[in-house]
Amino acid sequence: MLMNNSIKTLLQTEPNGAKVNVKGWVKTFRANRFIALNDGSTIQNLQCVVDFDNTDEELLKRITTGAAISVTGTLEASQGKGQKVEIQVDKIEVLGDSDPEVYPIQPKKHSFEFLREQAHLRVRTQTFSAVMRLRSLLSFAIHQYFNENGFYYVHTPIITGSDAEGAGEMFRVSTLPLKNAPKTETGEIDFSEDFFGKETNLTVSGQLEAETYAMALSKVYTFGPTFRAENSNTARHLAEFWMVEPEVAFNDLDANMDLAEDFIQYVIRYVLEHGKEDLEFLNERFVKEEATKPQNQRSEWSLLEKLQFVLESQFKRVSYTEAYEILRNSKPNKKKKFQFPVNEWGVDLQSEHERYLVEKHFKSPVILFDYPANIKAFYMRLNDDGKTVRAMDVLFPGIGEIVGGSQREERLDVLKEKISKLGIDEKELWWYLDTRRFGTAVHSGFGLGFERLVQFVTGMSNIRDVIPYPRTPQNAEF
Ligand code: 4AD
Ligand code: MG
Repeated sequence: MLMNNSIKTLLQTEPNGAKVNVKGWVKTFRANRFIALNDGSTIQNLQCVVDFDNTDEELLKRITTGAAISVTGTLEASQGKGQKVEIQVDKIEVLGDSDPEVYPIQPKKHSFEFLREQAHLRVRTQTFSAVMRLRSLLSFAIHQYFNENGFYYVHTPIITGSDAEGAGEMFRVSTLPLKNAPKTETGEIDFSEDFFGKETNLTVSGQLEAETYAMALSKVYTFGPTFRAENSNTARHLAEFWMVEPEVAFNDLDANMDLAEDFIQYVIRYVLEHGKEDLEFLNERFVKEEATKPQNQRSEWSLLEKLQFVLESQFKRVSYTEAYEILRNSKPNKKKKFQFPVNEWGVDLQSEHERYLVEKHFKSPVILFDYPANIKAFYMRLNDDGKTVRAMDVLFPGIGEIVGGSQREERLDVLKEKISKLGIDEKELWWYLDTRRFGTAVHSGFGLGFERLVQFVTGMSNIRDVIPYPRTPQNAEF
């Protein structure tokens, strides 16, 4: 085992007078005496008490916010309140100076907009370090959940040669020269001369490949980056985001819903147990933030109450048709308050509708299922009514859609017909169709937008603030 002298461990150690060394970044230095030191292992700072009479004045001047220092001293019971232990400093070494005049992260409140421009330093703030630690914890919980439940982790490709998912615009992957791309006889770009000898893109989802693995390993999941070049500049969309996609052979849609619910509750329970300090900090932030909003836009609940509520509630399962009726007869629809009116069965639901259902009508997480076939992807299983498919979306308060999934069309003839109706060349999907040719079976899966989950858990309102380096239209700095 590696020796662990992180501030997190030291703060849990009994003050025993032991000699310790700890390294970190200075948060504040008060009265030439008290250093608040943080190393990112925890939201708490370690108080280091300097004997300034016996410390070189030049050295004292270099202990400024943002500087990296190494502190050696004894771990003792703290005289001050707020912490159990502190370090009585014997020796300080400045490892890296910081210029307090220009260091952007001052010990005061900065706006999230400002901090996005300082994304390389914002993780040194309490809020962002808490969010990123929870992000890490959540991804660990996800792997643990699947591991405990007999799933295998599949690394589906990032570069894909199939563009059939239809989940959104794709980013091209090419090594062809932009200016002088080789052309075919008909004047189109000749991708046979490209790196892979064909058109390739960054993947929008690992589902199709995960399906092929589920048809051999039974229970699999992928968890990786996905890319969508949709031009939606919202607080819930990224051009590069991480998706968790389980896929299970022999599961029908009901089992798929059970899995989604159990999985989400497990990971939330996990962070409530293991990420308490950070969650409590973010809870306070959330409550303060809500208090600045007009009464009618405030969350009725604190962040911790929201998380607890999701753990204790059964997600309401509602068919698209039922939801459509609720929306059609709703007050905002009748008063023409929705931007997109709901007056015809078959309309796609917008986030204003999803949020009405979750936040106003049901006041609980909702799973909508059996959507109209023509607003959903080709691979979803057609119901006997011939017009709806076995799709499901999990909708969350404040977030809207957090999960999208379905039972897959396992019947070769039905799938082929759908593909041809869409004008997709069957040959492109030969390998996908093979799973329906050789030992096809009922199977289901879903995709959870990881950043949306992190948003829900941390209470951060903008998705750009839950991923280290957000990629959005016109923005790929860092
Ligand atoms: O609903 P989507 O498009 O589903 C799929 O891609 C399926 N192939 C998943 C599957 O069945 N295996 O995306 C799944 C989830 C959404 O519910 C949403 O949470 C998230 O991915 N998502 C985004 N998150 C951030 N930025 C974007 N641009 C997103 N697009 C989708
Ligand atoms: Mg979706």
